[in-house]
Amino acid sequence: MTQNNREVFGSRFAAIATTVGSAVGLGNIWRFPYEAGQNGGGAFMLCYLAFIFMLGVPLLCAEYSMGRATRSNIFGAYRRLAPRRKWYLAGYIGILSSILILSFYSVVAGWTIEYCVSSMTGSLDFSDTETGHLQFLTLTTGWRPVLWTVLFLLCNTFVMLGGVTKGIERASNILMPLLFVLLIAFCVNSLTLPWRDQGLSFLFSADFSKITPSVLLSALGQAFFSLSLGLGCMLTYASYFSNNTRLGRTAFVTASLDSLVAILAGVIIFPAVFSFGISPESGPMLVFEVLPYIFSQLPAGVLWSTLFFLLLFLASLTSTVSMSEISIAFFTEEKKMSRRKATLVSSAIALTGGLFCALSFGPLSDFTIFGRTFFNFFDYFSSNICLPLGGMICCLFVGWKMDRALLKSELTNGGKHRFALLRLLVFFLRWICPVAIGLIFLNCIGII
Ligand code: PHE
Repeated sequence: MTQNNREVFGSRFAAIATTVGSAVGLGNIWRFPYEAGQNGGGAFMLCYLAFIFMLGVPLLCAEYSMGRATRSNIFGAYRRLAPRRKWYLAGYIGILSSILILSFYSVVAGWTIEYCVSSMTGSLDFSDTETGHLQFLTLTTGWRPVLWTVLFLLCNTFVMLGGVTKGIERASNILMPLLFVLLIAFCVNSLTLPWRDQGLSFLFSADFSKITPSVLLSALGQAFFSLSLGLGCMLTYASYFSNNTRLGRTAFVTASLDSLVAILAGVIIFPAVFSFGISPESGPMLVFEVLPYIFSQLPAGVLWSTLFFLLLFLASLTSTVSMSEISIAFFTEEKKMSRRKATLVSSAIALTGGLFCALSFGPLSDFTIFGRTFFNFFDYFSSNICLPLGGMICCLFVGWKMDRALLKSELTNGGKHRFALLRLLVFFLRWICPVAIGLIFLNCIGII
């Protein structure tokens, strides 16, 4: 379907399914549990949810409005709405973060392919925690992950070459509901585990003394990462929304479903973490060590495990497709490249970054930037610094600079519907979001 000479998503369901497809991925199922585990459980969860609804939803509305109003990539959007070049900074931050994220994300997505294949061939052995840990190390260190990272990026390139609406729309419409059903089934299973109460209380009871500046920054980074915010990803997707898509509603539904999936992942993982005696602070390997145990307890575990890692791989793909779209839209619309060339250039850049990240568990593990391996640095710097910074610029821009009538017209679909919260939204975009992000940054570098 086309509108204003640009391809648009076919239906309202497709708009929600694709933005949820971008938001739901490894961020919810892999990153949320490990960040929560390292940052005090309940305290982290509380801050995370507060940031999702108080900062994430307004920012989603802002990105959606800019994207659909301009029907353009992030640079084009800022250029059309405000000719001052200083705002382009948000565009550069967006492209940089999308490349950094795609690099380390492809490594983890590569692990999911490897776990899926190993489950299918029956070579995963999780008879005890020690074996599970060793197995993770064997699968992820050395040169092996390079192979899986490359394979994942090839799949991503393949989807991208298929065009926006066709490839993405078809995949997300079928896969997201299926993943959701599977997660609910695993949750029910985790609630029967012996250390269920310890797991749930770790996740849900907040000890306020654990809220430190670094916990706040991590929760902020996680909220933005999980909602794919701050880098122009949702902005670019909204440029393909039809004129009938209701932006406020889509923002709220996206944020609710996304946080629901993260909570479900927590409910699956933490009872198991305590029941199997694994440390919640294990870091990026947490989920990959815990899940196979859960499967080994289930009847037909091999089948569940294969299916789950397959769906996780596909959920990662719908997220990386949205990340890649940022740089591809930039190269095609700003640099006038063909879509094919733009896709190949973006993939080559991500592949280079991906190789460094893939090797940072093995041959490059001693190579650090500010005390972190490539993988950890790419993850920390993009999620905790670039995304909140990009988000802050977008809030300030939409709150203070964007024409109010245009913003209103986007949120009401040209006056067809009411959007009662406009003044509140503008207040949040002008004051609450930038000040909160600014205070967290200052707090972290020890200035206040
Ligand atoms: N939100 C995605 C996830 O949770 C990751 C992502 C980040 C996607 C940034 C696009 C842009 O997995």
